[in-house]
Amino acid sequence: MTFDGEAFVDEMREELQASGRTLDQADWVKRTEQGEATKEDLVAWARQHYHGVTYHTRRVLSAWVVRVPYEMTDGIIDNIAEEVLGTTSKSGFGHLHWLFEFTRALGAPDEVITDATPNVDAMACSSFLYRLALQEPWHEVMFGGVLAIENQIPPAYIKAVAGFKAHYADILQPDDYAFHTIHITVDEDHGGHVGEFAEQHLDTDAKRRSARAAYFTGAELTRRCWDSMAECAW
Ligand SMILES: [Fe+2]
Repeated sequence: MTFDGEAFVDEMREELQASGRTLDQADWVKRTEQGEATKEDLVAWARQHYHGVTYHTRRVLSAWVVRVPYEMTDGIIDNIAEEVLGTTSKSGFGHLHWLFEFTRALGAPDEVITDATPNVDAMACSSFLYRLALQEPWHEVMFGGVLAIENQIPPAYIKAVAGFKAHYADILQPDDYAFHTIHITVDEDHGGHVGEFAEQHLDTDAKRRSARAAYFTGAELTRRCWDSMAECAW
């Protein structure tokens, strides 16, 4: 029987969904939808996300871009340009800027983020992404990073943004959560092509097993990083 890449990807996504461990089920997302997340909770999420994912994205992508087939470099360079300069979103700034706009609007000085000690989950998440980009077979970032993390971001932020609009209008204006809306817009077309990619590149059982492991690990480590909302004050 030939390998069906779309089915491979769909099954993994369904399995993650059924486990309840998708990012859109994270504690802060649910509590934001209900209007129950405090300013401290939202900054607590933002600062671990900063250490676990956002701060490192440009380096992870830059490491990956030298290892992929030449034809794939356009998309990755686009992605880096958006991360650093906001070129696709035309937002005028990179994503780190917009993350700090969010935490500033919530009243947190930047040092609450920059001087925070990354927790174990954030360290695990960023370390895993570097390992994939630098050491594992080049195609694994597509499963452990793109499919597991990037593709999960839009549905999670759509819920969060709905919560901001419904319950936080007195604190947060749309520009304050541009970090979230930009990620909904720029990431929305990713994911559809991963099945095709799997079919093309996962040509052995061993590659399929390691792609699967990368997918569930990337998703779970990011979820743990997101759920780490302990002790944030300023
Ligand atoms: Fe980003």
